[in-house]
Amino acid sequence: MALPTLHHRQLILRGVRMRDAKAMERALGDNRAWLSPWEATTPIIRTGIFDARASIRSLLRAAKEGVALPLVMVADGELVGQLNVSQITYGSLSSATLGYWVIEKVAGQGLTSLAVAMASDHLFFETGLHRVEICIRPENTASLRVVEKLGFRYEGLRRRFIHIDRAWADHFCFALVVEEVPGGILARYEKGRVPPGVAAIPDTDWVKARNPLSLPPL
Ligand SMILES: CC(C)(COP(=O)(O)OP(=O)(O)OC[C@H]1O[C@@H](n2cnc3c(N)ncnc32)[C@H](O)[C@@H]1OP(=O)(O)O)[C@@H](O)C(=O)NCCC(=O)NCCS
Repeated sequence: MALPTLHHRQLILRGVRMRDAKAMERALGDNRAWLSPWEATTPIIRTGIFDARASIRSLLRAAKEGVALPLVMVADGELVGQLNVSQITYGSLSSATLGYWVIEKVAGQGLTSLAVAMASDHLFFETGLHRVEICIRPENTASLRVVEKLGFRYEGLRRRFIHIDRAWADHFCFALVVEEVPGGILARYEKGRVPPGVAAIPDTDWVKARNPLSLPPL
């Protein structure tokens, strides 16, 4: 799949390149404490060494296979974050999952909200996907605000869903299908027309999320 370059306001959202490796390593290295609580990990082996070149190579391979769209966020000429579209499926599902981070220095400038809106519109109106999903840990209030501001619809709690920071973590999942946003997510957001309350999480799910899933004894 061709990696797009999208511009809006101060943000450039473009395909990752091998030559981003140094900047990405620096961004991730300088922001370890900020990012690690939310970082996907693997339940199998962890070496503790982040190899940006290997990571970019594997993202580009997935993009070539059509199952991922690995993007970086660039503001004022600096690589400030990543937005990875993964789990792309076509046919009767036609769906994708978004994941993202920014460096602490630029947090709160609305860059991720813009990037999510731009990438989702691209997936709906250029790639032809039908559904975009975002799953977030209950503790991640900043990320929950991103889906709330953009009006992603709350779909439910997935127990022990993704391996994050070395443990299986519950996630709240949100999605939009293209029929909900005929004029695009970005335009709806910027015109202040996001319907209130669609991302609201019912109290029952908050209660469940505060109590670990009960598991049978080993
Ligand atoms: C979640 C994250 C990507 C949001 O990015 P962002 O570009 O700051 O997004 P926005 O500017 O739209 O801000 C979203 C919310 O973050 C919170 N926020 C703002 N500045 C912040 C700061 N300096 N520190 C922590 N949270 C902040 C606010 O609640 C904000 O909502 P508001 O606009 O109503 O005030 C970013 O906080 C991040 O990279 N966190 C670490 C990695 C992570 O959690 N990734 C997502 C996993 S699901």
